[in-house]
Formats: sequence, structure tokens, C-alpha cells
Amino acid sequence: MKNLNLPTGNSIPTFGLGTWRMGEHSDRFQRETDVIRDALDMGVRLIDTAEMYGEGGAEQVIGEAIRGRRDGLFLVSKFYPHNASRNGVVDACERSLRRMDCDWIDLYLLHWPGSIPLSQTFEALHQLQDQGKIRNFGVSNFNLSDLQEIPAAAGSQLGCNQVFYNLAHREVEWEISDWCHERGIPIMAYSPLDQGGSLLRSPIIIDLAEQHSASAAQIALAWLLHQPGTVVIPKSARPARIRENLEAVEIKLGSEDLAALDSAFPPPDQPVRLGMR
Ligand SMILES: NC(=O)c1ccc[n+]([C@@H]2O[C@H](COP(=O)([O-])OP(=O)(O)OC[C@H]3O[C@@H](n4cnc5c(N)ncnc54)[C@H](OP(=O)(O)O)[C@@H]3O)[C@@H](O)[C@H]2O)c1
Repeated sequence: MKNLNLPTGNSIPTFGLGTWRMGEHSDRFQRETDVIRDALDMGVRLIDTAEMYGEGGAEQVIGEAIRGRRDGLFLVSKFYPHNASRNGVVDACERSLRRMDCDWIDLYLLHWPGSIPLSQTFEALHQLQDQGKIRNFGVSNFNLSDLQEIPAAAGSQLGCNQVFYNLAHREVEWEISDWCHERGIPIMAYSPLDQGGSLLRSPIIIDLAEQHSASAAQIALAWLLHQPGTVVIPKSARPARIRENLEAVEIKLGSEDLAALDSAFPPPDQPVRLGMR
């Protein structure tokens, strides 16, 4: 599994499992726990979650799935903007740690920009890091103007900006990616399959998939993995699809493939704000 270096010197796997929509129904708890265990057995090392997912339910599923196998995993969780105050972040983190029954979160993100001053948020994140309760911190859904408001000492240490990014949604490539790459901050692409919608039925992607003996989902993920400093976190609750998605890390796209995708899904050519899911 390929890794990227973070500004703190830690490394992060470039492939992870998303968990949005997990933990929402108690009758699916065991099935979802088993799916995450299957993913770990396949070699998945990064799991992305949030206190929002199932209002803590997804973190509980993860806690059960990783019991006895925490070492070597990279856990990402996120806190609500309304919990971004000095005390709110600390309390939210401790609740997440309890639900996942673990001692630290590898990367802890502000889920989207809110109204609480970022100086408070980052003061709390530094404190949690000093206490060893989080190893890295970062942000999600931050446009360039939001990134520029982060206190300088924290801005250069971000573990990622997690953003809506896939072939059909390249808004992050307007200025945001450059700001992150200049500082060695990874872009974590959420909804990398565009939530399994029309992107996967695109004729150009299906054509490339046939040429590479791959699936459309694998081409969509492989394209993201060819972008600089990018991590993908596709979600699936089906082991066969998790394996299929994971195998995308092996696909090599040539310059002609990349040019064909650029022409079908061009990057933005004028200022545009990030999309959000
Ligand atoms: N920071 C944020 O604001 C934010 C927002 C959205 C998402 N996220 C994170 O990013 C993760 C991924 O994004 P997402 O869940 O929105 O969308 P996604 O990963 O792009 O797509 C997930 C959907 O695609 C289907 N799927 C998965 N693998 C497939 C395959 N190989 N072929 C066909 N369909 C496939 C899944 O169905 P099955 O489960 O039935 O396979 C599910 O319906 C989330 O789970 C969450 O962890 C973060």
C-alpha cells in the first residue's frame, strides 16, 4: 500500500474505507462490523468516519471491528463545526475515542467551516496532539479563503483537506490543491466514485475500463490516485466491491488515458468553489 508523508512526519495510506451511512441502524451493526473486518483482512489500513455518521453509530461499529487490531491502522474522524470551540473539540474527541474504544485518532478533522473562531479550534487541536489523543489534525470542505484564515503555525501542519473530489467534480483543482501541495498537505478525496452515480456509466470511463480489464469504479479511483498528494476513501458495505476498489491502487494509467479523461472531464478554467455532499 502506497503512503504519503504528512507535515508531522507521520505517513498516511493513499487508500481508505469510507463509512458514511454506516452505524445508522442497530440491526445492521453486526453486518457492518463484519464488512470492516473483511476490509482489514484485505489490507485496508485507513478508515474514515465522523461523529456525524449515525450520530456516533459509525464510530461504534468501527470500535467493535478494530477491537484487538488497532495497531497499524490509520483512523480518521471528524467533529461538527458546532463542537469547534476550545472545550467543544476536546469533549467531542473524548466521546469519539470512547465510541471507538481506542487511545488516539490518527487524523482529526473539522468537518466543514463554521462560525467559531479557528484560533479556538486549533488551540484545542494542539492540546489534544500534545496529550497524544490525536496524532494529526486537519480540515474538510475548506475553500482557499477558509484555508487562509487558519493560524499560520497550524496551517503548515495540516494532515489533509478532505474535499469532494472525483473526475466529474474537479473544483479543488482551482487554487486549493496548489495551496495544499506547496505545504505538503494531502488532498483526501471524498465521494471519489461520485456516490456510485452516473460517473460510473460514462462511456469514456467504461471504454478505458475495458482496455485495462478493470471496472469503471477502478478507473475513477485510479485517476484520483494518479493526482499528486491524493488519498481516496471510497465507501462500500460489500466486501467484493471493497476488494475491487482496493485493487485500483495497482492500475497504471498512461499519458493517453489521462489526456482522454482530461478532455472528457476538464479541470475548472475559472474561479469556482468546492462542491459539498
Ligand atoms: N468530509 C465530508 O464532508 C464527506 C462527505 C461525504 C463523504 N465523506 C467520506 O467519504 C466517503 C466516501 O464518499 P461517499 O460515501 O459519499 O461516496 P463514494 O465512496 O463515492 O460512493 C459510495 C457509493 O458507491 C457505491 N459503490 C462503492 N464501490 C462501488 C463499486 N466498486 N462499484 C459500484 N458502486 C460502488 C456504494 O454502494 P455499496 O455500499 O452498496 O457498495 C455507495 O452507494 C464517505 O463514506 C465518508 O467517509 C466525507
